[in-house]
Amino acid sequence: MPLLQWDDRFSVQVDSIDAEHKKLIAMINALHDAMRQQRSRAVQQRVINGLVSYTRIHFVNEERLFVAHGYPDAAAHKQEHARFIFKVKAFQDDFERGKLGLSIDLMNFLSDWLRDHIMESDQRYSAYLTAQEPPTSSPTAPPPAGLASAR
Ligand SMILES: [Fe+2]
Ligand SMILES: [Fe+2]
Repeated sequence: MPLLQWDDRFSVQVDSIDAEHKKLIAMINALHDAMRQQRSRAVQQRVINGLVSYTRIHFVNEERLFVAHGYPDAAAHKQEHARFIFKVKAFQDDFERGKLGLSIDLMNFLSDWLRDHIMESDQRYSAYLTAQEPPTSSPTAPPPAGLASAR
């Protein structure tokens, strides 16, 4: 069973961003597998590096979306991204120096952070964007009523 699974409630109604979130979930699960299967440090390092660089790309793409649509809470959201990158980068450096290894605590931190960030902060810009214009994804799966009205 994967550590983190895509849930339709994660959808931000922007197909490209949903695809990026799915990829991040897959990368966190791959890191979890690398830990459980006790893969070599070199393999684990590659998975960590891939996750960190893809996370940066994803954050840049979201932040471009904020600029393009004049999202009013962009500054606070960008700060959340920056704080996460700071922590993950510190771990990446410690891992590289052999000071730290993968742990279930780290895996839970990554998984919980991504899930909570998507469900709270990312859903907030999603509500703002969908109020501005029709959703770009197929209308077959509208956001749950409770979620949309709570924003
Ligand atoms: Fe995101
Ligand atoms: Fe975000």
